[in-house]
Amino acid sequence: MAVYVVDHPLVKHKLGRIREADISVAEFRALSNEICRLLTYEATKSLETEKCTITGWAGPVEVDQIKGKKATVVPILRAGIGMLDGIMDMIPGVKVSVVGMFRNEETLEPEEYYVKLAKNIEERTAIILDPMLATGGTLIATIDLLKKAGCKKIIGLFLVAAPEGVERVVAAHPDVDIYTASVDERLNEHGYILPGLGDAGDKIFG
Ligand code: PRP
Repeated sequence: MAVYVVDHPLVKHKLGRIREADISVAEFRALSNEICRLLTYEATKSLETEKCTITGWAGPVEVDQIKGKKATVVPILRAGIGMLDGIMDMIPGVKVSVVGMFRNEETLEPEEYYVKLAKNIEERTAIILDPMLATGGTLIATIDLLKKAGCKKIIGLFLVAAPEGVERVVAAHPDVDIYTASVDERLNEHGYILPGLGDAGDKIFG
């Protein structure tokens, strides 16, 4: 597994703005999707392509296309929905697989409440979306269920991650790649990321 911190100036700038305490719902939604587009660009750079011949304006022309079955994007409800438009701007035809999971406020353990995966998911690269990787419990449970469904290649995109959660995921799933705009300082005693974003689900859904 590799953890990639995407520290492009545009990402850094947008991340700084999304951390503002009094940010509006509209701005939080816009920035989540903007950062997600940039994370998608980085995270998809190793997708394989193959040559194919199309009819261009001057006749046949050889072009590149993504090889094989394409990806499925896996937003983790609720907050992952806030990044979905961003990735769909970049991969418009992508299949969407939905995983509903919330973190029990007391135990901090993930609780699954809905799963609907794309057909032929075992042939696709799964790209998980969630604004936050905190203790890592939600991500580990989601990767567990995707692997059980046959997924072999799994990538995760996060706006911010906590070092404690990253370490746990690395130990549990060493084959999964993580792309994030930042690995923040730490978790507080309630399992919130510092400096973090606050409660991204509440900020996106109002
Ligand atoms: C948040 C976040 C992740 C999870 C991260 O969701 O969006 O899914 O917590 O925490 P973890 O790494 O400690 O498991 P939350 O449970 O608040 O649900 P929501 O998206 O429905 O608001």
